Amino acid sequence: MTNNNPIGVFDSGIGGTSIWSAIHELLPNEKTIYLADNKNAPYGQRTKEEIVALSKKNVDFLIENNCKLIVVACNTATTNAIRELRADYDIPFIGIEPAIKPAANNSKTQVIGILATQGTLNSELFNKTAEMFQNTTIIEQVGHGLVQLIEDGNLNSPEMTDLLETYLRPMIDANIDYLVLGCSHYPYLIPQIKKILPEHIQIIDSGEAVARQTQNVLREKVGFSDEGESEPVFYANANPSVLKSILDNKYEVIQKDF
Ligand code: SIN
Repeated sequence: MTNNNPIGVFDSGIGGTSIWSAIHELLPNEKTIYLADNKNAPYGQRTKEEIVALSKKNVDFLIENNCKLIVVACNTATTNAIRELRADYDIPFIGIEPAIKPAANNSKTQVIGILATQGTLNSELFNKTAEMFQNTTIIEQVGHGLVQLIEDGNLNSPEMTDLLETYLRPMIDANIDYLVLGCSHYPYLIPQIKKILPEHIQIIDSGEAVARQTQNVLREKVGFSDEGESEPVFYANANPSVLKSILDNKYEVIQKDF
């Protein structure tokens, strides 16, 4: 089955590029359109209704641009809005499920940590997933302030180091052996997080799993492109330079109100 339309990817800002990179690496022949709704970031402290409305606005833009499948590269949007998106649109959606399962199944201490936004940790989807692992203690931590610092380009600031110390220390003291990064922005903090965590604690992020799932859905339902490699397209509705710099200035970013 062939389908040369693009894959759409959206996030509240730049964090979803961690997911986009994994998709682009696994499926280099697929056209992609990435949408950063950074004018409205962060989503993590918004109400469910706001997150659903913003997600629909992003989806409308991607559908107008002929996307054949949409990756919701934002944990907060996935956990709060993917059910509504699947109900309202006739196009496949792939979301980032909180990666609690691989962490809980492999944990030896039976204590795992999850760092995520308030919106994700409050969501029904997260809580239902967590309930499935009654034998594992899950230490939940809201990453207040982290997304904003990343969006502002302050990845290596002393403020970032202080916040990460504050959030991770209680998890280390509680003997976690897995840390789940429950927000697509947080993989950009892995170098800083590794400086704080002891080496035996494994970090789980979801990029590769989402890319494999995208490949499966293309194979089974949508179709692959047969046009060879093409330049990805990036849109941001505010401050395109931060998106450009997280992509190592390799791609142009179009500023557009959507
Ligand atoms: C945010 O916009 O607050 C973060 C998005 C996410 O959860 O990935």
